[in-house]
Amino acid sequence: AQKVTQDQPQVLVQEKEAVTLDCKYDTSESRYSLLWFKQPSSGGMIFLIRQDSYNQQNATEGRYSLNFQKASKSITLDISASQLEDSAVYFCALSEPTVRCV
Ligand SMILES: *[C@@H]1O[C@H](CO)[C@@H](O)[C@H](O)[C@H]1NC(C)=O
Repeated sequence: AQKVTQDQPQVLVQEKEAVTLDCKYDTSESRYSLLWFKQPSSGGMIFLIRQDSYNQQNATEGRYSLNFQKASKSITLDISASQLEDSAVYFCALSEPTVRCV
């Protein structure tokens, strides 16, 4: 099943402006995390920021901030004061247990 969807094909932004990237997800777990990664054109994956489902506050990290809407299973990444090096592919990932020992 498709668990994470990012519908924006490409976002064009002027330098110094803010950007908002949308992500919707689906899970029946009560505890999970949402992680954002950046893939520059040079390759690799850079971890940016995470939100844990039980956290009552939106995570922020430098120019990155999240708007976590748990009830509607959506999370947006806001990048403030965009810079040339923000040009990249951004991935939203849902992290939930794939193995659970009982
Ligand atoms: C994140 O911020 C938005 C907008 O202020 C708010 O609606 C939402 O409830 C916040 N989410 C959390 C987990 O604090």
